[in-house]
Amino acid sequence: MDSIIAKLQPLEQESITRGIPILGSKKGAWLLEKIKQTKPKIILELGTANGYSGCILGSQGAELTSIDVNAIIAEEARQNFKKYRINAQVLVGDAVEIVKRLAKEKSEYYDLIFIDFAKKQYYNVLENCIKLVKKGGLIIADNITMDGCQDYQEAVLNHPQLKTELIPIMDGLSSSQKI
Ligand SMILES: C[S@@+](CC[C@H](N)C(=O)[O-])C[C@H]1O[C@@H](n2cnc3c(N)ncnc32)[C@H](O)[C@@H]1O
Repeated sequence: MDSIIAKLQPLEQESITRGIPILGSKKGAWLLEKIKQTKPKIILELGTANGYSGCILGSQGAELTSIDVNAIIAEEARQNFKKYRINAQVLVGDAVEIVKRLAKEKSEYYDLIFIDFAKKQYYNVLENCIKLVKKGGLIIADNITMDGCQDYQEAVLNHPQLKTELIPIMDGLSSSQKI
């Protein structure tokens, strides 16, 4: 097991005990490989929770911005990012609104966007995420087979600007490259 996944084991265990729905080590190991292969420099995450997946996203030196609507869990994430030496800022607010604002300010800015928040909102952020991600960059979404994600899944599989693969680990991820 790679070191960051091993280092995060206590946080994974604590999250399970407290019922915090984090990515976990199986999907985390896949994500870490993707980060090592593609070497993103600037990453946006929708759905921070306590920072477990953010620690993986930022583990290879990328600059991470992560958004969560819950100020208390966001503060826990900030502490974990400090502990695991992740270069991250956490924005507190509704990710749909923040992404809308970001898409008005910038385009083709992020190398990777990781979507892991309210499942029914995935579809509502898709077009703005496509605008925000660089050509050749990735939009990765977690829990892609869960209720509420069907419209997102169908959209990424059929979108003319995306080349999408589905990753069958647990309840699944999608990985869409902007072409
Ligand atoms: C599945 S958890 C994220 C897990 C995290 N990515 C990880 O693997 O460590 C989903 C998070 O999305 C947040 N969330 C739910 N609705 C949101 C919204 N509209 N905007 C921003 N965050 C939201 C919740 O507070 C929760 O912390």
